[in-house]
Amino acid sequence: MLPGYNRVVPKLTILPANVTIEWDPATMPYSEHGKPHSILDICLNHGFHLEHACGGNCACTTCHVVLKEGERHTSEMDDEEADRLDMAADLQLHSRLGCQVALKGDAVVEIPDWNRNYVSEGGGSMNLGDAIPAGKH
Ligand code: FES
Repeated sequence: MLPGYNRVVPKLTILPANVTIEWDPATMPYSEHGKPHSILDICLNHGFHLEHACGGNCACTTCHVVLKEGERHTSEMDDEEADRLDMAADLQLHSRLGCQVALKGDAVVEIPDWNRNYVSEGGGSMNLGDAIPAGKH
């Protein structure tokens, strides 16, 4: 059981698609992408494509999202995420990496323009080959 989990099924809303995912922390399987209960993990478990070129290993910035609501329901940013996020295009005050930020309650995020355009043009994870370090799992 997650610390702070209040047994209410949280909602993740993704803008501008305006898709809301209800996810149950007690039953959602781990997708093996990013941290457990990360925004990427939630999206992949519910059929929403959030770009993740490095497979959720904190080695790219393609999973960049901007928190619009629910910051108090997010995990603390660690140094690895902060260092990687510094390289993100269109960095904003409430930017996070979708594969690194775990949720424990309702949240609303927006996918930045540059990534949104990539997804709308067909998406599909980019092959970064040997540039991606081995996973931490
Ligand atoms: Fe590469 Fe999140 S998927 S850093």
